[in-house]
Amino acid sequence: MDENKAFSELKEKIFRDRGLDVNQYKENYLKRRIAVRMRALQINSYSEYLDVLNKNANEYVLLFDKLTINVTQFFRDPKMFVAFENEILPDVLISNEKKEIKIWSAGCSSGEEPYSIAMSIEEVIEKNGIKNLNYEIYATDIDNEALLQAKKGLYNIKSMENIANIRRNKYFERINDITYLISEKIKSKVKFIRFNLMEPYKTNFFDIVFCRNVIIYFIKELQKKVLQYFYDSLKDNGILILGKTETMLLSFRDKFKCINLRERIFKKE
Ligand SMILES: C[S@@+](CC[C@H](N)C(=O)[O-])C[C@H]1O[C@@H](n2cnc3c(N)ncnc32)[C@H](O)[C@@H]1O
Repeated sequence: MDENKAFSELKEKIFRDRGLDVNQYKENYLKRRIAVRMRALQINSYSEYLDVLNKNANEYVLLFDKLTINVTQFFRDPKMFVAFENEILPDVLISNEKKEIKIWSAGCSSGEEPYSIAMSIEEVIEKNGIKNLNYEIYATDIDNEALLQAKKGLYNIKSMENIANIRRNKYFERINDITYLISEKIKSKVKFIRFNLMEPYKTNFFDIVFCRNVIIYFIKELQKKVLQYFYDSLKDNGILILGKTETMLLSFRDKFKCINLRERIFKKE
């Protein structure tokens, strides 16, 4: 079979069998991720890979694992978290006298991001002596495996290198030399939910939305759709934080005012 045709068929098959529209991903990215699986299986054509998927549904697990690259860590891009704690949170938590804060970590992977957000909030609450504040973090991802891991809250020390010792002692229980368990206090602030970003979520609900290192893999059209969903999900003056390598699309520059360009922090206008 012609390779272009086999590639199209492969995309249709994944959608038919598993409901994942891989057209959301940039084509080069998609091809690179599939190539990783093909190399592992020592095959070099999409038609052979179609055969593998036909015969062995378990291959989907391995393919999805590669496609959704869950790479993450606690306090990823530490400078963004410094800005979040010093410039954003005090304003959201104190100045507005909000007593009920809702945050969305969209594309939360195995939980390091939403748990880091909870630790930052705890620190700002303590530092400023804030009382009677409720906050809730909605952490969503399309990947069930990652969500299961997140709910367990067990982490390898490698993902914790950006956490200062003082915070590590405060918010984790040491299980052994390399494994730590997130504290109940932090865990209780985060709700993990399976959710595909290709659909609208809540409206006028969140004070802050984090979506970092997720939409970069999406085609422009889908990025537009998702940014509009984030806009709709935020309350007035809500904050959107993107990943270091992600840029705000031009067509959204009148909807989101940039408040920290380097750290990709925006405010809903
Ligand atoms: C590289 S991780 C980013 C994790 C975290 N936000 C960070 O910056 O460290 C990307 C995550 O986006 C998720 N993802 C990819 N496509 C998605 C979609 N359509 N809907 C929801 N989550 C998606 C993946 O499953 C993966 O866990």
